[in-house]
Amino acid sequence: MTQMTNKANYNAISIEKYRAKAADYDASAQFTMPLRRRTIALLQLKPGDVVMDVGAGTGLSYALLRDAVGPTGRVLAFEQSPDMFKLAQQRVQREGWSNVWHQESSAEKAALPEQVDAILFNYTHDISRTPDAIANIMRFAKSGARIAMAGVKFFPWWTGPLNLLAWAKNRPYNAKAADLWAPWDIVQSHCERFAWESTQWGMGYIAQGRLKTA
Ligand SMILES: C[S@@+](CC[C@H](N)C(=O)[O-])C[C@H]1O[C@@H](n2cnc3c(N)ncnc32)[C@H](O)[C@@H]1O
Repeated sequence: MTQMTNKANYNAISIEKYRAKAADYDASAQFTMPLRRRTIALLQLKPGDVVMDVGAGTGLSYALLRDAVGPTGRVLAFEQSPDMFKLAQQRVQREGWSNVWHQESSAEKAALPEQVDAILFNYTHDISRTPDAIANIMRFAKSGARIAMAGVKFFPWWTGPLNLLAWAKNRPYNAKAADLWAPWDIVQSHCERFAWESTQWGMGYIAQGRLKTA
């Protein structure tokens, strides 16, 4: 019972954080566009692929993903914040993208219409740290699906107080901002191959993996 209450709180805390952030999100995310492109490139998407955009926010990755899967491919996405999702929806309507399917849903409850070849986790820390959310996402992945992740992490432990900075920087965005030692390890546990490297002077990471084959 306690655990269920905690989970509900993390979702509610995150929704509240993004209520304040949604309007300025796209402007503030501009400086991370090169890293976003690099992360999407790790998915090695090809025409006709179906790709999942986890916690898609305002849909800032949709255009890049569509370019990579072409007109015969599809982008499937979900986002739990009503404020962020509304902007994603406006983007899709404005652009008239018929091969983007998305829903307003938590990662724990999302239900996708088909299985995917690849999964993007771009700055989705709270989702990546939630085993139930990851288990639900994996239900919609084809055997051997490709994974790419980017996000925030703590500096190495020996940098000491620097991690106070990492925590403070992440708290406005993440309900689980103290859980930054190995933010990829729940996703990694579903993979047969996985590799990560540091970005942003050690305060970020980028990772690539392949899900276990059935
Ligand atoms: C830093 S934003 C990243 C958005 C997008 N992936 C991007 O690259 O621009 C994190 C997003 O994850 C969403 N989120 C957090 N927890 C979630 C959950 N449990 N289920 C679905 N979305 C969630 C937030 O609402 C927010 O839009």
